Amino acid sequence: MDIDAVKNALIQELDAVRAAGELEALRAKYLGRKGVLADLTGSIPSLPPEQRGAFGKRVNELKASMAALFDEKQRALGIAPAGRAAEMPDMGMPGIAQDVGRLHVLTQTINEICDIFVRMGFLIVDGLEVETEYNNFTGLNIPLEHPSREAFDTFYLKDLDAAALGRPASDGKLLLRSQTSSVQISVMKERKPPLAVVAPGRVYRPDAVDASHSFMFHQIEGFLVDKDVKFSDLKGTLEFFAKAVFGQDIRMRFRPHFFPFTEPSAEIDISCIICKGKGCSVCGKKGWLEILGSGMIHPNVFTNVGYDPKKYTGFAFGMGVERIAMLKYGINDIRLFYENDLRFLRQF
Ligand code: DAH
Repeated sequence: MDIDAVKNALIQELDAVRAAGELEALRAKYLGRKGVLADLTGSIPSLPPEQRGAFGKRVNELKASMAALFDEKQRALGIAPAGRAAEMPDMGMPGIAQDVGRLHVLTQTINEICDIFVRMGFLIVDGLEVETEYNNFTGLNIPLEHPSREAFDTFYLKDLDAAALGRPASDGKLLLRSQTSSVQISVMKERKPPLAVVAPGRVYRPDAVDASHSFMFHQIEGFLVDKDVKFSDLKGTLEFFAKAVFGQDIRMRFRPHFFPFTEPSAEIDISCIICKGKGCSVCGKKGWLEILGSGMIHPNVFTNVGYDPKKYTGFAFGMGVERIAMLKYGINDIRLFYENDLRFLRQF
């Protein structure tokens, strides 16, 4: 059987086809189990061995061109291609999941805390991470001989002083801020009371890294200055905050403490959120968890920024974001925050 003749016959017959039924009949005639192509393939074994290869190859080519001719006709008739059902997407297959990103748990914690203070009328301010000795220490009434000023407690920028930031050289060396309390000074130097500010951000200390220390961590500073601000305002504000973060049923206590920039000063504890105050391993059997430092802003701080301490009073507080997140979510190692292990981060 002549292969070219078969192809030409098919072309002619296809030309006459007008409907899907006719097309399928023709497909059976040529490509079906007992069709023309099958006959051709079946005749191969009866050929002389030296002709079989070449003939087989031509049969294969014929098969491919016949399939193309049928497809072409099918498209021309506007009929769905054969086997369409098999090509339909399988609606039961699992989809290709889009990996949706999320905010880092520390960012979430910062946002949650700042939102609470914004609801009370506080303004969020971004401070500088490279600061002067003045804003980080001197302005905050931290004396020159205070140990936190030593190079083993603070990162100093080599050979740079305040002039590099456009500040008076008397503002001292440049450093990586060791506390967000520096924002108290930079904001108060620029604005007049009344003001209520929260300042979240990174702080740096040359601590050896372990489960509870890191050379970089995050703090949120808060402060409020106005006429007639009282210690009870501080208490009310912090109680609102602590209950919003840790639950309405927690208890709070103010423990006397010392900070150079506040007088009086207090550390704030909440009743242990794990054992509710009975004493467990998380609170070290004390029943209380320390969450932040606070106090009434020291008159010397007001004088340093040009406020009249007889006219204004105010309170300030500062907390570690990692600490709050660790307590809230039961995280036992600070390093988990910085390792970018998705198995950890995806939980929040
Ligand atoms: N800056 C303090 C620290 O890093 C925290 C702090 C304590 C901030 C008392 C305050 C405060 O504003 O009043 O340990």
